[in-house]
Amino acid sequence: MLTLSVLASGRGSNFQAIIDSIASGYLKARIVALITDNPKAYAIERAKKHGIETLIIEPKEFSNKDSYYSHIASVLKSKGVGLVVLAGFMRVVGRALIKEFPNKIINIHPALLPSFPGLHGQKQAVDYGAKISGCTVHFVDEGVDTGPIIIQAAVPVYDDDTEDSLSERILRQEHRIFPLAIKLFSEGKITVKGKKVIIKSKKEDAVIINPPLL
Ligand code: GRF
Repeated sequence: MLTLSVLASGRGSNFQAIIDSIASGYLKARIVALITDNPKAYAIERAKKHGIETLIIEPKEFSNKDSYYSHIASVLKSKGVGLVVLAGFMRVVGRALIKEFPNKIINIHPALLPSFPGLHGQKQAVDYGAKISGCTVHFVDEGVDTGPIIIQAAVPVYDDDTEDSLSERILRQEHRIFPLAIKLFSEGKITVKGKKVIIKSKKEDAVIINPPLL
């Protein structure tokens, strides 16, 4: 069974969606640890409630970025983690971790990459006047939201949308495609060829993976 570790810095609603997908049997995986850089993250409460071990690992305890991420990598290795899931982890992950988990770290971003990378993807879409936005699950490389794209879901952007209203609409899709991406990974259906991710799926799955505008 696939062994996951979730890295989160805040609210943890995506973490919760993954917990729920496992509980319902949709996802056959095990979460061995929540790792957070923020002792006040609400994600910690969620982990407690579900009996998931939490490790608070703060960068200030380390002399530099390399030693911080080497430490996280060694913790993850010692727990036999097969997939590292960044669910609202508000840092650009360092090389020391990426090189230990090549194409085994995924992130969710609240915009249709490569548009609107970085912070406040939803506000960027509203301010830009985009008519469609959405969310992206992608592998993590050393750039900011630049790794190979696994799944995206699109939502409309309305004239009267605010950052909050668009964020809510996008979040509903995040909670759908993040567990789906993990499921596909756990079933060995994801292959990375350079920048491209190929998903092995039946024709009937196409609408689940690429649904119409929601
Ligand atoms: C989400 O919008 C996600 O796309 C972004 O950070 C937010 C995390 O939300 N990376 P939550 O902590 O999962 O509720």
